[in-house]
Amino acid sequence: MDITKTLSGIHLNAALSLPLYLQIVTALTVKIQDCTLPAGSKLPPERELSRLLGVSRTTVINAYSLLEERGLVSTRVGSGTFVSSEPAATGSPSPTMPWEQLFTPGYKAPLSSIMRSIIASPTADDTISMAAGMPDPAFYPVDMIHALLDSRRHSLDLADLGLIATEGYLPLRRSIAAWQSRLGKTASPEQILVVSGSQQGLFLIVKSFIEPRDYVILESPTYLGAIQVLEAAGARLLCLPSAGKLDLEIFEDYLIRYRPKFFYTMADFQNPTGRVMSLSDRQELIRLAARHRLTIIEDDPYSLLYYGSPPPPSLKQLDTYGGVIHIGTFSKTLFPGLRTGWVHAAAPVINRLAQEKQYVDLHSHNLAQLILHTCLEEDALTPHLAKVRREYKKRRNAMAAAIRKYCSPTMDFDLAEGGLYLWGRLTPAILPTELLRQAATLGISFVPGDAFYAHGAVSHEIRLCFATHDEERLSEGIRRLGRALAATGAAAATSVSPAAAGRPII
Ligand SMILES: Cc1ncc(COP(=O)(O)O)c(C=O)c1O
Repeated sequence: MDITKTLSGIHLNAALSLPLYLQIVTALTVKIQDCTLPAGSKLPPERELSRLLGVSRTTVINAYSLLEERGLVSTRVGSGTFVSSEPAATGSPSPTMPWEQLFTPGYKAPLSSIMRSIIASPTADDTISMAAGMPDPAFYPVDMIHALLDSRRHSLDLADLGLIATEGYLPLRRSIAAWQSRLGKTASPEQILVVSGSQQGLFLIVKSFIEPRDYVILESPTYLGAIQVLEAAGARLLCLPSAGKLDLEIFEDYLIRYRPKFFYTMADFQNPTGRVMSLSDRQELIRLAARHRLTIIEDDPYSLLYYGSPPPPSLKQLDTYGGVIHIGTFSKTLFPGLRTGWVHAAAPVINRLAQEKQYVDLHSHNLAQLILHTCLEEDALTPHLAKVRREYKKRRNAMAAAIRKYCSPTMDFDLAEGGLYLWGRLTPAILPTELLRQAATLGISFVPGDAFYAHGAVSHEIRLCFATHDEERLSEGIRRLGRALAATGAAAATSVSPAAAGRPII
């Protein structure tokens, strides 16, 4: 097996706060555990790997010793470093297949595997996870679903359980169009494509519009899933700082200089910052986009989760030139396992996306579509939304109060007027990934800000989801975060950050 080929796919990023040797450990661990590096494989000598990855030999030595400490490799004096014959239990049934070498090149964020392991299931054991952006399972409207299904039981058309049109269950397309029209986003059923979650909508849009090296404008920070799907498609990302006000001068410069394919944005209660685009920015954005015939992708999972006044009219509502593609979802308002969302766009766009969708899954799940159609038809979403808005507002306030009590002045934040997140800004001495490590030992988790920046920017921010736990548990979580902040701050004060000292990061 050509180990060098296997290892040359490892991409390190010196801009990340995670030291390079740990990035190597993470990458090698994954390869050992999925048997891309089978038991007994000889790893390259330190000098060779350091050349291959462009790091110092000390960095590789540190990585190999940590792997040895973890029992994943062993060093035989005079012979080299070998993958242990019995690496940690992996559950992999096929130790001989070099899967990584067979896959097409794909994007892997260096942080993602670490985050996946630290950001555990939000409701598991004693860990209080404020990481995943999901509603509280206690609010999943189980009774409502039972009642809706019951009300349909006698009129269930068996044809509805066979294959249906890729564009979606027609009654649901009609009811979404009517509902969106009532909300001001005038739609006809032909302009609605039902998708398996808004993530699929985004994927289909990228598949239909983006070729490698195309430019796309994104807010920075922005939704991690968007960064990943765009990078996987080979798009070049133009980042627009989203520090409150849209920088429309940079935006126009991007339009003229790069002719981007589209602008991806969340105007309402942005993930991760919770910010809302002002009405004047929306109007100016539409004016510019219309002038340059720029497509806007408006990803909108959160606009109905407001805790004060509703946000300004959506970009879709303000669209004067037919260029806005709006994506919606039931994941945050009802529950994520429904895997149902929709794309609202001009009919030619819907037709193209439906073609792509046919290659993926023929159509989205009938039963979920049937339930959602009944839900909209019987207006069952309205009382549910009223309930979750009331409850999430209390939770947001409880989290905000706890942050002021336990985390000030090391962390501050802006009070989001909707959505699921508070965006915490840390004092520069504290690195979010260090804080996360400390937090994990105290039984809490969150998402470090780095995850939401393309191009591996180093961030001193963290995203905290306030929706998943009740007020008491949130306050306890933030109390623990305060302790983690104090411990991380003390450690930072006694050590000099390698990046700040300008020394090589090992
Ligand atoms: C901005 C944004 N878009 C898309 C998604 C994916 O949602 P869905 O469950 O509908 O695929 C999320 C989920 O967190 C999100 O925050």
